Amino acid sequence: MTTTAVTHIASLVTNDPSLGNGTPLGLIQDAAVVIDGDRIVWTGESSKAPATDNVLDAAGRAMIPGFVDSHSHLVFAGDRTQEFNARMSGQPYTAGGIRTTVAATREASDEQLSANVAHYLAEALRQGTTTLETKSGYGLTVEDEARALRIASRHTDEVTYLGAHVVSPDYADDPAGYVDLVTGPMLDACAPHARWIDVFCERGAFDGDQARAILTAGRAKGLHPRIHANQLTYGPGVQLAVELDAASADHCTHLTDADVDALGQGDTVATLLPGAEFSTRATWPDARRLLDAGATVALSTDCNPGSSFTSSMPFCIALAVRDMGMTPDEALWSATAGGAAALRRTDIGRITPGARADLVLLDAPSHVHLAYRPGVPLVSAVWRGGQRVE
Ligand code: NIG
Ligand code: FE
Repeated sequence: MTTTAVTHIASLVTNDPSLGNGTPLGLIQDAAVVIDGDRIVWTGESSKAPATDNVLDAAGRAMIPGFVDSHSHLVFAGDRTQEFNARMSGQPYTAGGIRTTVAATREASDEQLSANVAHYLAEALRQGTTTLETKSGYGLTVEDEARALRIASRHTDEVTYLGAHVVSPDYADDPAGYVDLVTGPMLDACAPHARWIDVFCERGAFDGDQARAILTAGRAKGLHPRIHANQLTYGPGVQLAVELDAASADHCTHLTDADVDALGQGDTVATLLPGAEFSTRATWPDARRLLDAGATVALSTDCNPGSSFTSSMPFCIALAVRDMGMTPDEALWSATAGGAAALRRTDIGRITPGARADLVLLDAPSHVHLAYRPGVPLVSAVWRGGQRVE
């Protein structure tokens, strides 16, 4: 195997607190990283780097782990420009808009849906995302949900079954019948194509009892739970996530003190999705309150055509720093190691020996510039599994 060293990295984020400056980011100045095949094999000071077959001089630029976007909805067709326009004229966001995308997605061919996923995945990769989770949830029939998951699996290993996004319009008068479908034939058809099961636990979608039934049924079929929780209103989602040891409670916008305490004490990651609050003009989630309570916080895009049509992790970092009480260091950690924790992965989100070689070189001397220079395309090179992809 050929070894490659990237040397003279002005500032390297390892996410290993035992390295470098001893903070959670494990920052090393004037650093080098050595990769062999798809793995990182050495991290340290540039002057001490071992000899390698190839050397690339980073010339004073910063390096960070590839972003881990643990929450997106990329299997969709059409867009919702009109709905966005209406919102920016004062209309509120509701879960009802999901049905517009369901109709467009059902109409689309497999090829169109797959091309769409590839398009947004490539867009995310250009902005430094090297791992991306994505969900079904715009099909809401047995065939359309299974199709969405099959298509998603062609593009990523982190696939989530979200048949419980909203009650299908076909079951408008029989929500209990829809829950039976989601936990029965639809689950049987979808479980082989997914790693995770998710439910939108919210007024206008599924209540706490329905969510518990859906996640428990999924778990019995080998899927791990995660939940869309407490996005639009206070509710039972966060407590349920902790009770079921879900990998992540996502959104966490409206939290009681008890919700914050539960997240502070449990293993469930609080995944914050600032693109959604930005695009729906909603109240920001309070990252500071969660961090101070000891919760593990992840940042993700929620990329979808309704509530958050961005694939940009740098944009989410800038919002989290400006409006959610995070420091630039905390936001960078949450967008990398935090996302890995939300996917219960230890092989990504860090630049240490043994990890997958997912690296992002920035056109900036430090990761702080991601928040300090919002909207500027600072990603200058990306490696995924040791391959230079951008
Ligand atoms: O995470 N909250 C539910 N689902 C998406 C929105 C989907 C849509 O509006 O199409 C979300 O924000
Ligand atoms: Fe979502």
